[in-house]
Amino acid sequence: MNQAAIHRLISFGLDKKDPELLFDKRFTANLTLIKDLFFLLYDEATHKKHFERLLKLLPELFAQRPEELRLQDVERIEAGNWYQSEKMVGMQLYVDHFNKDLKGVANKLSYFKDLGINFLHLMPITTRPEGENDGGYAVNSYHEIDKRYGTKKDLLALTKTMRGENMYLMLDFVANHTSNEFSWAKKAREGSKKYQEYYYTFSDRTIPDEFEKNLPEIFPETAPGNFTYDPKMKKWVMTVFNPYQWDLNYTNPDVFLEMLTNLCKLVNMGVDIVRFDALAFLWKKLGTISQNLPEAHAVIALFKMCLQVVAPGTIFLAEAIVAPHEILKYFGEGPTKGNECEVAYNASLMALLWNSIATKKTNLLYKSLGNLPDKPRDCTWINYIRCHDDIGLGLDDRFIAELGWNPQGHRKFLLDYYCQGLEWSPAKGLLFMYNPKTGDGRITGSAASLLGLEKGLEENDPERIRTSIDKIIMLHGIVLSFGGMPLIYAGDEIATLNDYSFLGDDAKKDDSRWVNRPTQNWNTVGQLDNKDLPQSKVYHGIKNLISIRKRTAVLSDENNLELHHTGNQHILAFERNGNKQGVLVVCNFDESPQVINGGWVAKLGYLKEACYHDMVTDKKYEVNSGFIEVKPYQILWLKKL
Ligand code: GLC
Repeated sequence: MNQAAIHRLISFGLDKKDPELLFDKRFTANLTLIKDLFFLLYDEATHKKHFERLLKLLPELFAQRPEELRLQDVERIEAGNWYQSEKMVGMQLYVDHFNKDLKGVANKLSYFKDLGINFLHLMPITTRPEGENDGGYAVNSYHEIDKRYGTKKDLLALTKTMRGENMYLMLDFVANHTSNEFSWAKKAREGSKKYQEYYYTFSDRTIPDEFEKNLPEIFPETAPGNFTYDPKMKKWVMTVFNPYQWDLNYTNPDVFLEMLTNLCKLVNMGVDIVRFDALAFLWKKLGTISQNLPEAHAVIALFKMCLQVVAPGTIFLAEAIVAPHEILKYFGEGPTKGNECEVAYNASLMALLWNSIATKKTNLLYKSLGNLPDKPRDCTWINYIRCHDDIGLGLDDRFIAELGWNPQGHRKFLLDYYCQGLEWSPAKGLLFMYNPKTGDGRITGSAASLLGLEKGLEENDPERIRTSIDKIIMLHGIVLSFGGMPLIYAGDEIATLNDYSFLGDDAKKDDSRWVNRPTQNWNTVGQLDNKDLPQSKVYHGIKNLISIRKRTAVLSDENNLELHHTGNQHILAFERNGNKQGVLVVCNFDESPQVINGGWVAKLGYLKEACYHDMVTDKKYEVNSGFIEVKPYQILWLKKL
């Protein structure tokens, strides 16, 4: 049982209108964990004063929580794990690329409604440096809204309207670093010793050189090394991402206390889900790669346990694009199981889906997912086929080798397949951070371009166009039924192609991730009634799947996912099984039709009297000679009969 469940138990029967009393109960319930985590990070003998400050800070932060959100918090505690519902369907977008500014987004709520979206991830909207700023992930503030998006008032108006429409909002908490223009960084550069200790700063290269022996490079092409010399400060500062993103020093408890305040200010604007950016990097230790360290987990759990006392209706999404077994740890382990992040990106599924498209086989997917332990019952996934970032090949070399493939050769094949290294491949993506020395690289591109639509249209090849539409719908169908919150990248629902305009912008041209951050094409949206357009086919295909998902209770995440081996290496089959209800998802990753044996489908209860019911087409089909046929890139959602 996690702490959220305990809060549910102890608030039962208490007066909702007495938030102070409920706050006290939560405070008491979490106090021991908060103390243990705090003193695990910060030595008790020297940091008692900081702990006392934390205890004073929590009621102060709660006092700042708006009344309306406090009431919503109580409702959410009672409702339980609202984020696991089949009703959750998300979309990720850059406000300016979508519709100019926050008011523009508010004006498009009917678009989300039509498609069935009830949860938005707005990319960073707070102030950032002019010029390079990593799409706002270099923050000048955690709560001041950048003018280009509007004002705080606009954001508050948007979140209020969204609450009224039962919609949820996710914003980023860029916890690992600030920009070099953030007020603390400015003071550090002006010589303040106090603020230099908010970052990892060094007078000479001795410690940086020691660190570099083990630290990998995140952006090797554009930002090699992990330290930057600041001439004004006359010191080296740790910059794991870009030189203008300074890593915060969480070994300093003042940083934790101030960042907790920043987090609460952010969520008090009406944020439901906090995307905890780059959280694997929160703790640095000499002699290690300084990712996924136990202390980083303790910092996250400490944030969680404090936020849960102040704003329990808010949850965390772990942005940990790391090895599959490491991702699971962000749900918490041991005493913090279920008390760290409620949600994590299912980056493993994402990478495996792209692998299956390129190889036309699902063997690596079965091997990899079949070897993962179950996630905790109260936690869930964000299932997605791609986001604003690159697609990394987070595949397990051990499993690639077990299939008889050479891991390095296999990775090269995938990069060639997606990044125009193979004449015959339908994909049109770009390489990201390719390192010719190691052969490592990542992939960028919109879903439609990576799945063949761009080439199909260029070559005016109807077959290629048809196949790409089917692939786009099939992959979305998988993330819509896999168990967790599906998150669609804005534009993919209307098959938007790559956007090459970044090449003409000095602040963007070296970062090919901009190719997959296109502007929303409202012209195309205006033509969605023309059912012959590829864009309309994709839109209506995805919309249909969303609407079925929302009507199918068994698709809520109750850890009720079972992979089924069909004996056909091109097929992925998984079941979402519940009390009497059930959905069996079957997809074909090959360009030829495939068959599966009806025998086991019947045994599972999805075939009766030689008939099955496909929810996608809402039709019954008869089975010939005991086999079910699955067309190329078709997705079936079979209904339990
Ligand atoms: C996350 C973001 C990415 C950004 C990085 C640094 O990985 O998704 O876009 O570059 O954090 O903040």
